[in-house]
Amino acid sequence: MSDRFDCYFVEKVDGEVRHSVAGIRLDDLPQGDVLIRVNWSSLNYKDAMAARGHAGVVRQFPHIPGVDIAGTVVESTSPAFRTGEQVLACTYEIGSGRWGGWSEYARIPAAWVMPLPSGLTPRTSMCLGTAGFTAALCLEALQHHGVHPGDGEILVTGASGGVGSTAVMLLSKLGYRVVAASGKTALHAKLREWGAAEVVSRESILDSSSKPLLSGRWAGAVDTVGGEVLGTAIRQMRHSGCVAACGVAGGPQLPLTVYPFILRGVTLAGIEAAFYPMERRKRIWANLAEPWRLDRLEVLVEEADLRTLDPRIDAMLAGNIAGRILVRIRGDEKAG
Ligand SMILES: NC(=O)c1ccc[n+]([C@@H]2O[C@H](COP(=O)([O-])OP(=O)(O)OC[C@H]3O[C@@H](n4cnc5c(N)ncnc54)[C@H](OP(=O)(O)O)[C@@H]3O)[C@@H](O)[C@H]2O)c1
Repeated sequence: MSDRFDCYFVEKVDGEVRHSVAGIRLDDLPQGDVLIRVNWSSLNYKDAMAARGHAGVVRQFPHIPGVDIAGTVVESTSPAFRTGEQVLACTYEIGSGRWGGWSEYARIPAAWVMPLPSGLTPRTSMCLGTAGFTAALCLEALQHHGVHPGDGEILVTGASGGVGSTAVMLLSKLGYRVVAASGKTALHAKLREWGAAEVVSRESILDSSSKPLLSGRWAGAVDTVGGEVLGTAIRQMRHSGCVAACGVAGGPQLPLTVYPFILRGVTLAGIEAAFYPMERRKRIWANLAEPWRLDRLEVLVEEADLRTLDPRIDAMLAGNIAGRILVRIRGDEKAG
């Protein structure tokens, strides 16, 4: 019997980035405290970049992408985890500075691993993945800054993407009135099904004028796009509103003056998921298991495996993915 197992392998050959499903051995994996048999992973924007060898994500070749891991502990030199335990590991340097979860086995530091929260299966945790976790951080930021259901409309930009779609579902579940902004006209009906009270086009929420303030519309916003879209949202906030900014899909510049902050008391809350502290991270995941549990999450999800990922990666890089892509590694529905 072969002791090789499958992974999505990204390498540089003669200066050219190549990717394939390759067989590797346990000894090929990097050192680390916890060896995990990976059941499920997912596709996030960062994974799509890693899969194509983007220098901003991949530090060293060869590389295995996959920032998200749900699976079972096979070996652990850390007393924090025992063999057979179901675990979750997302972000940190997983799938970027270090080999990630698009592999039947992954070995990572114990400090990046947490027990699977009760109430979530490995599969449902990866339907959420880093995108769902980031959406939950945005929700927490709005709550922390006093934006509550009933205060007014919440804008979600890049609404059809992984973070955007889970944010739409999460916020609407908690009673917020969500206005989803999306560049995909064909998906407007789907966004309503996912929980948006209203759907608007990407262009309609863009104001390229240099006006420092626009008429106040939003009580809060979750922005996955950045650039002019974020700048417009901040200028359109009502008094004491909060924008949770997590993304850069539309560019890193932020054309803005200080007036929204000093004349309307607007808060710009930066969201960073990768190194979010473990104790607070466990609390967010426990919230996602219950009381923020998304019973209709499956309607956002499409399933792929290592051999059917490529077209989805290319679609994501072209801005053409809707919802979440779940990646089956060794998982089955029965085991979760
Ligand atoms: N801060 C953090 O810790 C953190 C964590 C996770 C993700 N992120 C970032 O959040 C963003 C979303 O991630 P994701 O995994 O949800 O990606 P995704 O699934 O690819 O979603 C991005 C969405 O942004 C919109 N979009 C794409 N290109 C655009 C453009 N040129 N101009 C305006 N809108 C555009 C599209 O939505 P519509 O077609 O519906 O408009 C697209 O579906 C990414 O920038 C990612 O790097 C940050």
